[in-house]
Amino acid sequence: MLLTTEDMMQSHSAEDAAPESDIRPPRRDARRAAGKSAGNTILRAGGIEKVLGTGVGEIRVLKGIDVELRAGELTLLMGPSGSGKTTLLSILGCILTPTSGALAIAGQSTAGLGPEGLADLRRRHVGFVFQSYNLFPTLTATQNIMLALDLRGITGADAAQYAARALAEVGLTHRAEAFPGQMSGGEKQRVAIARALAGSPSVILADEPTAALDSENGKGVMALLAEVAKDKSRAVLAVTHDHRTLAYADRIIRIEDGQIVADERAGNASEKGSNGHILEGDEANGRRFRRRSRI
Ligand SMILES: Nc1ncnc2c1ncn2[C@@H]1O[C@H](COP(=O)(O)OP(=O)(O)OP(=O)(O)O)[C@@H](O)[C@H]1O
Ligand SMILES: [Mg+2]
Repeated sequence: MLLTTEDMMQSHSAEDAAPESDIRPPRRDARRAAGKSAGNTILRAGGIEKVLGTGVGEIRVLKGIDVELRAGELTLLMGPSGSGKTTLLSILGCILTPTSGALAIAGQSTAGLGPEGLADLRRRHVGFVFQSYNLFPTLTATQNIMLALDLRGITGADAAQYAARALAEVGLTHRAEAFPGQMSGGEKQRVAIARALAGSPSVILADEPTAALDSENGKGVMALLAEVAKDKSRAVLAVTHDHRTLAYADRIIRIEDGQIVADERAGNASEKGSNGHILEGDEANGRRFRRRSRI
């Protein structure tokens, strides 16, 4: 059975006791605020533009992205190679700063934050999952998770207990002492998801989490992310090219050439037409199926 964010917070006193500053609202209040907005917006981005490269190599990678992520939902981000998916994920996760635009996570705006402030916001509210797992090969599953907790100021018995609960959440208690080299790809990705959950982030961002996995393991990882997203204090956004994962999504956002071209919710499709207006109902559904066969 999956732990709720509240369950995990109970074992996690270190951050609650951390000194607060203007840009660090009390952890418990922030989580309570996110919890109150269950089913509501946890991440909000508006007018996100990103220019990369310089001189003749300059590319407008993102061209005005508006997106909101809601608690309790698994959203898939799909689109052709080079359309800007990883760039967008990096900006939403405060790894990269946008050239222009606004971002707020769990009610906290990034406006005016420098590198330290952004890193702090990221540590407190964002968990990442990568295609290549990014686990330390010389650390066990438990130690990999405890390292992530350490970076968030959670150490000792609290961290050990927390890591054990996170591994239980992804069904890997029996692999707690295994090293990455001793685990299957699916198991490694589940450890990476457990690590992303460390510290109870409000947003989980996954970049092609199933790309290196076979069909069965890919489905297992996506089902796990869908389960993780059921926590009403979390939103999950996963980049994928894998159509077998569509069944697990609450919502699918499609991006082409740095712009969102479709935003579909299971059972309630809506889509931006070429004139920028939102299409609803049959018209959007018709387009959805045509578009789905293209990407
Ligand atoms: N540091 C950089 N400098 C210049 N251009 C970059 C840089 N990083 C990415 N780009 C360009 O930005 C565009 C978007 O890249 P991005 O990695 O976001 O695409 P993607 O949708 O994730 O693609 P893929 O599906 O292949 O992973 C591409 O044209 C890429 O070449
Ligand atoms: Mg990418």
